[in-house]
Amino acid sequence: MVKKVTVVGAGNVGATAAQRLAEKELCDVVLIDIIEGIPQGKALDLAEAAPIEKHDAHLAGANNYEASANSDIVIITAGIPRKPGMSRDNLLATNKGIIKSVTKEVIKYSPKAILIIVSNPLDAMCHVAMEESGFPKQRVIGMAGVLDSARFRAFIAEELNVSVENIQALVLGGHGDTMVPLPRFSTVAGVPITELMSAKRIEKLATRTRNGGAEIVGLLKTGSAYYAPASAAVEMAESILKDKKKILPCAAYLEGEYGISGLFVGVPVKLGKNGVEEIISLNLTAEEKKALLKSAVAVQELVDAMKKV
Ligand code: APR
Repeated sequence: MVKKVTVVGAGNVGATAAQRLAEKELCDVVLIDIIEGIPQGKALDLAEAAPIEKHDAHLAGANNYEASANSDIVIITAGIPRKPGMSRDNLLATNKGIIKSVTKEVIKYSPKAILIIVSNPLDAMCHVAMEESGFPKQRVIGMAGVLDSARFRAFIAEELNVSVENIQALVLGGHGDTMVPLPRFSTVAGVPITELMSAKRIEKLATRTRNGGAEIVGLLKTGSAYYAPASAAVEMAESILKDKKKILPCAAYLEGEYGISGLFVGVPVKLGKNGVEEIISLNLTAEEKKALLKSAVAVQELVDAMKKV
């Protein structure tokens, strides 16, 4: 049976995700946005590219949620993006309201869907979606680690002048300044980067990774990154749609894993047809664990702050 994915928010991230989903012929795609004409226009434009791109995915756009009925996955990108000088946390109040109302509509029509949250501040928005949906933790997943790790991978490849395809990397923790790039688990053709670069060079790349989103906001000035965020969300969707069981770093609801409870934090998970099928526990050093817990504290502060707005 043809799979169906709804993308809520037909802006930069949402429309790019729709394009990648269709061009990889992973599913039919419904784009939803609050602005009249935008999702319909972008879906039609993408459908008209299909003969050239050679895919038969069906694309539709709508301003209401009926068209999204019975989606296997709903990717939520609705909200406002960052502007220069803004942190992801500055989006809290506005995006909280948006994610709440979007989730309410989504679950009416797709009670069995898996939700992939993209809107920022990511970890807090995952909490909103989980609370509003009442979905089990396996079916609410945040997109952050795949993006942050891809940034780290791109920087490592550039620094060492090797193919990006040879690079694996792991960035855990919250999707903010406290995220935790893990050099020990970042490899070039299987060799940890700790054996290939000085600690100083690695720290330079890790810092650039932590500031990866802000670097793009600074360049674009009118919005935030969208090509890589869309790619990351689609890699997660693909693993679920094809039941590939890929291990990917995602924001998942933890209940004791890594010593963290009741919080969405980025950790490696196995993604398959049931969503988060397993949380992978890594053997972290004391220093790595400390950094992850520090990041969890920052997420907790954000969640606490959200209750007040
Ligand atoms: N329902 C549906 N769509 C909405 C709603 C809503 N209640 N509120 C806003 N939108 C839509 C906007 O109309 C816009 O088309 O969400 C879209 C957001 O698109 P952009 O402004 O282009 O933002 P984008 O770069 O796609 O980022 C979206 O993802 O990466 C995060 O921080 C980023 O939170 C931001 C989100």
